[in-house]
Parts: sequence; structure tokens; C-alpha cells
Amino acid sequence: MNQDGVDKGKRRFLTATTAVVGGIGAVYTAVPFLASWKPSAKAQAAGAPVEVDIGKLEPGQRINAEWRGRPVWIVRRTPEMLSKLEQIDGMLADPASEMQQQPAYAKNAYRSIKPEYFVVIGICTHLGCSPLYRPEVGAADLGGDWPGGFFCPCHGSKFDMAGRVFSGMPAPTNLVVPPYRYVDDDTILVGEDGEAA
Ligand code: FES
Repeated sequence: MNQDGVDKGKRRFLTATTAVVGGIGAVYTAVPFLASWKPSAKAQAAGAPVEVDIGKLEPGQRINAEWRGRPVWIVRRTPEMLSKLEQIDGMLADPASEMQQQPAYAKNAYRSIKPEYFVVIGICTHLGCSPLYRPEVGAADLGGDWPGGFFCPCHGSKFDMAGRVFSGMPAPTNLVVPPYRYVDDDTILVGEDGEAA
């Protein structure tokens, strides 16, 4: 298991399954997991929404996209991950997401439209490093009570599987949830929400 929490077998699987569609129609298929891919420069400059194919994302896995030059992660959370979220409010600085770090439709217990799929900007709210995906419950290096989530190696901020920051961390707020909506069950459009569409 590497620091992204995805073993090599799963990574091979994702190599064949990750697909992204640019907001103006450009199609990218079969790109390697964690590879650097983007919508066209023109679309990116315009801040165009980015489509992400989540159809083959397995439970527990994460895929990466990019929107407006920022990393966007989509995690397919397992029932166990969702259950954990309900048990750790006491460890968190803003468990109810009062600090407006998400669209209104993601201000709920899971910080998402559908509980299973978590969409978040992968930038630490402290000084902008990119946290690591650490889904392993009880990871020894993160403390025996680690519920799974995201860990920022720069100054040690910890976030749960809904991007909610733990109490007493350098990061002052939860990770940011971007606007997004479902085009269909297998496709998320990042950068545009249903309310504005
Ligand atoms: S940038 Fe993440 S803890 Fe400082």
C-alpha cells in the first residue's frame, strides 16, 4: 500500500478505467491513474466545467481531475467510510460545515450530493499543499484513532473522508467542495452546479 492508499493492483485497474471529457467536447480516454491531464488550454483558461467519468471507479478508490488549474478528487466512499463519518464529530473543528466551504447542496453530513461520491478540491486550506489520500483506518503513523481521510504532509493537517479538518490543526477550515452536478449516474460535471444550469 503506497501513500495514496491504492495498491498496485488497483492502480493497474484504474489505468484502464480513468477517463475525462473536457468541457468543450475534447475527449481523453485511458489515461494512466495519477497522470497529469487537463482539458484544453482554451477551456482551462475560460474556467470551463470538466466532465469526469466515474462509471468504473471502485469503492474506496479515488480519481483525479483538474478544474481551473486546481486538482479535483473524486472518491467513491464505501459504506464503512460513510459510517465512520457519523462517529467522529468530536474530533473535528467544523463537523457541520458551517464555514461555507461547499455549495449549499453539499452542506450535509457527507458534504456531497450523493453520499457515495465525494468531490473535493485537493488543496490544503492551510498553505496550499496537496494532502495525501490515506483511507486506511487506524494507520499507525497517523495515530490509532485515525478514521481514514486525507493527511497534509507539509504541516500535519488531518481531514476526514468528507474533507472536514480535525480540531487543533494548522489548516483553519474544511477542504473546499467545488460546484458540480451529475450529468448522469456515471458522469460528474465539475465547475457547474445544477442550480446555475
Ligand atoms: S499546507 Fe497543509 S498543513 Fe500546512
